[in-house]
Amino acid sequence: MTAHADRLLLGPGPSNPYPEATEALGRPVLGHLDPDYLCLMSDIAEDLRSVFGTRNELTLPVSGTGSAAMEACLASLLQPGERAIVGVNGYFGERLCEVATRGGAEVVRVEAPWGRALDPADLLAAQRANPDARLLAVVAAETSTGVRNDVAALAPLSETDTLLLVDAVTALGGTELRVDEWKIDACYSASQKCLGAPPGLAPVTLSPRAVDVMRARTTPVRSFYLDLGLLHEYYLAPSHRYHHTASSTMAYALHAGLRVLLEEGHELVWSRHASVGARLQNALTKRGFGLLAEEGHRLPQLTATLLPEGLDEAPLRRALLDRYGIEVGGGLGEFAGRAWRIGMMGHAARERSVLALLAAVDEVLAEA
Ligand SMILES: Cc1ncc(COP(=O)(O)O)c(C=O)c1O
Repeated sequence: MTAHADRLLLGPGPSNPYPEATEALGRPVLGHLDPDYLCLMSDIAEDLRSVFGTRNELTLPVSGTGSAAMEACLASLLQPGERAIVGVNGYFGERLCEVATRGGAEVVRVEAPWGRALDPADLLAAQRANPDARLLAVVAAETSTGVRNDVAALAPLSETDTLLLVDAVTALGGTELRVDEWKIDACYSASQKCLGAPPGLAPVTLSPRAVDVMRARTTPVRSFYLDLGLLHEYYLAPSHRYHHTASSTMAYALHAGLRVLLEEGHELVWSRHASVGARLQNALTKRGFGLLAEEGHRLPQLTATLLPEGLDEAPLRRALLDRYGIEVGGGLGEFAGRAWRIGMMGHAARERSVLALLAAVDEVLAEA
């Protein structure tokens, strides 16, 4: 083991933070009720509103990773016995089902094969068949397969009593996402992918109607730590009621990452991811690699690729790490052992990442 390994992080996350975010980690620690810290959290909330494309007041980073934000949304919006419709076309759709079920919800699954996008018509039909469903959840960017699900087409849910919950862990900051325009009621992400900060904070936003649902609960949120109502009172309400010892270090880093993203501008950041992802995908197919996601629904920031027939992926992936310090991820589910998941996210979404990876892949393949 190297004491301070320095990797090019081209897996499904974390990605390399922006240098400004790494630098911010060295600032002096602040108390979690320090006025300067609370002011920083208010600035972060405003930047997150911009990145999410929302005016939602309840917009904050949960302490933890993307899974904490997923649990916070499901635990805060669902009461035991309530119904949740979940779109499942990959590993993270499955996780949504698992977390909702553990929370006591009754889950209605709407499926598509891994590698294919969910059909919005199927999801809307499931809501019509279950009009009492409290929420309908989908993953915008399925990190297990590199599929982009069509979230904008689910806007008609706003005319029903069912909330639209969107997992944007891999999507946010990498591809277009517009919370207010697409009528999303609850959306969450994570600091370590396209937002360009280290893992440790997980942004969440709730629409006013989702906040009303949360406030109208007749049972308390089972998780104290992930109760979005309590987190709102701590971070955003004038009382700033103590909830937990939140990390100013992580807040500085997330804030720095968001600043870089917003200074570059949403559209330019999305187009940077789009052109880098397209370049990688073209180069891989020319080398005989397959693309797992169906055409028209491929994410640029996450490419799940099938290795050419007869190649054993794990030793090749290990060689990329050991010899070149480049991390890529292995396949999940039925694609384990046959696929790689390559992220070009945030600061790592650059032409130079593609060139470095391809040069290293060519060398390890030449010896395979
Ligand atoms: C789409 C999606 N949802 C949820 C998660 C869980 O996030 P974390 O690993 O940060 O807890 C991930 C992680 O990769 C993800 O890609």
